[in-house]
Parts: sequence; structure tokens; C-alpha cells
Amino acid sequence: MPDFDTSVPHIARVYDYWLGGKDNFAADREMGERTLKAYPNLVYSVRANRAFLTRTVRFLAAGTGIRQFLDIGTGIPTANNTHEVAQRAAPECRIVYVDNDPIVLSHAQALLKSDPQGACAYLDADLRDPEKILAGAADTLDFSKPVAVMLIAVMHFIGDDAEASAIINKLTDACVPGSSVAISHAAADIDAEQQTEMVRRLNQSVAEKATLRDRAGVTRLFDGLELIEPGVVRVTEWRPDSQLEAVSPTGLWGGVARKP
Ligand SMILES: C[S@@+](CC[C@H](N)C(=O)[O-])C[C@H]1O[C@@H](n2cnc3c(N)ncnc32)[C@H](O)[C@@H]1O
Repeated sequence: MPDFDTSVPHIARVYDYWLGGKDNFAADREMGERTLKAYPNLVYSVRANRAFLTRTVRFLAAGTGIRQFLDIGTGIPTANNTHEVAQRAAPECRIVYVDNDPIVLSHAQALLKSDPQGACAYLDADLRDPEKILAGAADTLDFSKPVAVMLIAVMHFIGDDAEASAIINKLTDACVPGSSVAISHAAADIDAEQQTEMVRRLNQSVAEKATLRDRAGVTRLFDGLELIEPGVVRVTEWRPDSQLEAVSPTGLWGGVARKP
């Protein structure tokens, strides 16, 4: 087991608590409860985020034929992880998982087992260091073929707009046309008061501070790329599987774009 301080809440483990997982400690659960009190719909919102991940990966693998995924800010493994969804559509899919939290990496190595026809790799790297991510991912992914860059509920940890765009540009510059970027992002303009208070409480203790962006701000993260229909929408409204799913509460914007 890697060294980490369980007395301080960590975003990966608080998120695991919100999702109903077991890989969290007292400090994470306490922060989980404090933030849920500020924004009770958070439980639905994080579930909707996982469902968005499932639908986007399925769309990219089954609908666009992409066979390679770079999933940055993986989180603690739960149901329907990227490789499971992708390899259900095409077992030969190759996935690189990236996170900067040692506990995520140790769980990921133990639990995220690839179909033998494909591959899974795990990188301990920071989103703020895209060069390191790209260099490490190149051991598993072939960057002469399309890659889907998954940035699911992670860009809100890069508060500076210019830095966030520069990171996405570096990642997409390394990818060939036909590659894709999927983003979900906590919204400044959905349930604004409650989400602002939730983030204020979270940022009091977690190391990775979160920043909300409005729909226009999230849309700007896709600059230079072609948004795929329906564009940047509430994650529940992105190609939902049912009407019930479409109207479920969520505090996240999401979209998928293609590199022209
Ligand atoms: C809210 S969870 C999202 C997990 C998963 N992508 C999902 O949507 O279900 C955010 C994850 O991003 C990771 N993370 C946060 N900031 C990061 C950074 N700068 N570099 C790499 N990973 C980061 C956290 O450790 C955590 O596992």
C-alpha cells in the first residue's frame, strides 16, 4: 500500500463516498456528508456523471470506432470503468488510466484488468504535466491512430482558464484527426448557490481545489475541436438512454468533440 494521510479528506475518496463506495476513510466520509448537506442533489449528480462516462465511451467505441482511450483523473475503480465499457463494445480496445492519487493507482492496478485482446496501463501523473502523460501513454497507445481523451469530472481541478485550455491543446495536438475529447465539469450555472457552497466546503480541506465553470466556460475548453451533437449540455441530456435519465438532476455540464 502506498503512503497517504487518511486524516485529510481526498477528492478521489470523497467522490467514492458520494458514489456509495467503500474505499474511503472517516475524514472523507465527514467531508462527504458536509458537502451533501450543502448540495443534496450531489448524489444524483455523481451517478449521472458515471452514466455520462458509460454513454460517451460506448458511443466512441461502438459509434465512432475509436479503440484507444486516455482516461485522465480515473478515480477509484467502481462499476462500468472505461475499459469495461469500451471492451464490451470492442475487446481489442487499449486504455491508459492516469491519476495523481496513489490510492487510486493501487486500486486501479489491482482491479482494472484488461480483456486479453486489449490492454490497460496505469500512469501516476498529473494533468498539469501533459508531456509526461503523453510520453507514458505512448507505451500502450499508438498516437498515429485516433485516441479518445477522457476528462471526466477532472478539469474543474484546473482553475485557471488559460492553463486548462493549454493542457487540452497539448493533449489534442498529440492526437490525429478523428480523435475525440470528452469532458464533464461541475457547473457554476446549475444549482448555483448550492454548488458554490458545496465547493467552498470541499476546498477548505482537500488538496485539489475545485473551480466551477459556466456553460460558456466549459464550451471554451473545446475550442479548436468540433462538438458532436448535442453539444455541451447537462450530462443527463447527452444522448440519454431514457427520458427518465434525461430529466434526472445533475450539476455537471458535459460534451464530446472530435478533432477535425
Ligand atoms: C471527481 S473524481 C472523477 C473520477 C472519474 N473520472 C469519474 O468521473 O468518475 C476526480 C479524479 O481526478 C483525480 N485528479 C484530480 N486532480 C488531478 C490532477 N491534477 N491530475 C491527475 N488526476 C487528478 C483525483 O485523484 C480523482 O481520482
